[in-house]
Amino acid sequence: MPRFSRRSFLHLSAAASAAATFPFMSEPMLAAASRHRPPSPGAVMIDSNENPLGPSQSAREAMAAILPQGGRYLDNLTDELVQSFAQSEGLNPEYVTATVGSTPPLALSVLAFTGPQRSYVTADPGFELGMMTAQNNGAQVVKVPLTRTYAHDVKAMLAAGPAAGLFYICNPNNPTGTLTPRSDIEHLVANKPQDSVVLVDEAYIHFTDAAPSALDLVKAGKDVIVLRTFSKVYGMAGIRCGFLIARPDLAKRVLQRGGLNFMPVTAVVAALASLKDTSLITERRRINATIRQQTFQWLERSGLSYIPSESNCFMVDVKRPGQEVRDAMAKENVMIGRIWPIMPTWVRITVGTQEEMSKFQAAFQKVMRA
Ligand SMILES: Cc1ncc(COP(=O)(O)O)c(C=O)c1O
Repeated sequence: MPRFSRRSFLHLSAAASAAATFPFMSEPMLAAASRHRPPSPGAVMIDSNENPLGPSQSAREAMAAILPQGGRYLDNLTDELVQSFAQSEGLNPEYVTATVGSTPPLALSVLAFTGPQRSYVTADPGFELGMMTAQNNGAQVVKVPLTRTYAHDVKAMLAAGPAAGLFYICNPNNPTGTLTPRSDIEHLVANKPQDSVVLVDEAYIHFTDAAPSALDLVKAGKDVIVLRTFSKVYGMAGIRCGFLIARPDLAKRVLQRGGLNFMPVTAVVAALASLKDTSLITERRRINATIRQQTFQWLERSGLSYIPSESNCFMVDVKRPGQEVRDAMAKENVMIGRIWPIMPTWVRITVGTQEEMSKFQAAFQKVMRA
């Protein structure tokens, strides 16, 4: 594999050329690879679904406190994290593996369950990481358009996937921020081909109380993998922590593909502190929803169409090639995007802080008038 450096990476002009270089691409890589120009210092960064609030105060304090012990592996802390999460969700700890964010377990699951004879079935538009990994694994990538309400079309996914190795459901979906009803996920799990697996990516689940978790399907012993991350509501994208939650036999098949490593102690203590912080999710959910709603109201007043989202990102119809608007916004020092080929005039926007969204509005108004 070629050496990866941030510099060379920022010079990649298109996701396609980057996909040929890297076996899989995570959210920040996808964002950077599709930028036509690197952001200038002080740019408004609302193109990678990051959380501008960063780690909670208790997580910051926990990281600072563990630093003197950073010379040790301290794997007992990872056990404590797994126990703590398992207990809070009523899960058997044997079903939970701590991971360095959810990018690795997602890519490894695709490697484990897809291949030349076993397709990867996903929504369109959907998060591209699994698609790219499947393609690099020689698997057919079957993209099934979302329904009219922007849910996963599970019946069409089943019809398109008689040879599926993995069905990927992202709930809420990236990039639309929309939900797939629980009954649809149950239908998919009940009717999928026997040897296939349903992976439910719950990266954005904490931003809404309307999204039903699929953790109980894992508890019930189904062929279901759930992924969680601390990168979104918990604001720890740069700290790196997540969970693979699955029946031990499925988890074993995923982890056989890689992932033999210790967790960074900073990530583990920050995650533990975040889980203990009982008001964190409600508080951040409220902040995100308030700013998102204000932005929606502004879009409505401006006569722009958007997809109502339950998450920290949403799609806006710019009614011209989306990349043109992205490039024009980048000149205003506001980084938005990406664009999905199935919706070429729509641009994804991440919910930033109030101040960032005011800058977004000023720049967007200027660009859309031009
Ligand atoms: C749907 C989805 N899954 C997984 C990830 C991976 O995030 P991380 O590796 O930071 O946990 C992302 C990142 O944006 C995402 O959007």
